[in-house]
Amino acid sequence: MKWCFKPSVLGIISLLFLSSSVHSEQKDPFTDSVVIFNTICAKCHEAQCSGRMSFDDAYETSKNHVIRHYGEASDKQWLQQELFTILNYMKEKCAFYPMESAPPPKRIWGPDILNTMATLLERNYFIPLGPLSPENYRIDLELKKDIKVTIHLVSEDFSMVIDDCFTPSNGEIRIPFSISEPGNYYFRMYPQEPVQITRLKVSPVELNNE
Ligand code: HEC
Repeated sequence: MKWCFKPSVLGIISLLFLSSSVHSEQKDPFTDSVVIFNTICAKCHEAQCSGRMSFDDAYETSKNHVIRHYGEASDKQWLQQELFTILNYMKEKCAFYPMESAPPPKRIWGPDILNTMATLLERNYFIPLGPLSPENYRIDLELKKDIKVTIHLVSEDFSMVIDDCFTPSNGEIRIPFSISEPGNYYFRMYPQEPVQITRLKVSPVELNNE
């Protein structure tokens, strides 16, 4: 993975304000855990496919490790346990934990669904795009502010189609990409400072004129 920036102090301060304002959203807690795992723990644990589950005592011994990487989990035993389950799923099945969210019509995501696929504080996003066939596409992304972001497009086999930094202008980022292997794909975003995605669109493009 490519890293475009280090988290800024300003980002951490704005985190504190953001967390109170988005706290009331209705979210499925397990989806939350999957998003936390696939953005935060994935930095090291993505594509760990040993085929063998961790022993139960690994859960006890890894508690501090989990909290070190995700402090929010410190007083939430259910969250620690869910993250452990998700890691075991990845190891055993060599796959992302399934998320129950079919792509919306025309692959246009609005702020309501997008909010359910973001971590509360950091505003890291992990969004299943559904199956894509070999074709040329474009991502159109709208952000609330012009904040620099790292974007990944990753296949169900953990290969990166996009791994780059982008700076929006007027909140907009356009990213052309092409798919050569059919399969399920996932969009991931790490912002330099917490920022909300207000719209995401993934559409096929004709390249006739190029
Ligand atoms: C900076 C890299 C890094 C990050 C981020 C990270 N881990 Fe780990 N983790 C490791 C390493 C290295 C080990 C020890 C080797 C191993 O078992 O893969 C480990 C071990 C573990 C273990 C024990 C595994 C076992 O089978 O014994 C668990 C459970 C675990 N991590 C969960 C998590 C969770 C949950 C997160 C996210 C909150 C996370 N880790 C974030 C690097 C990381």
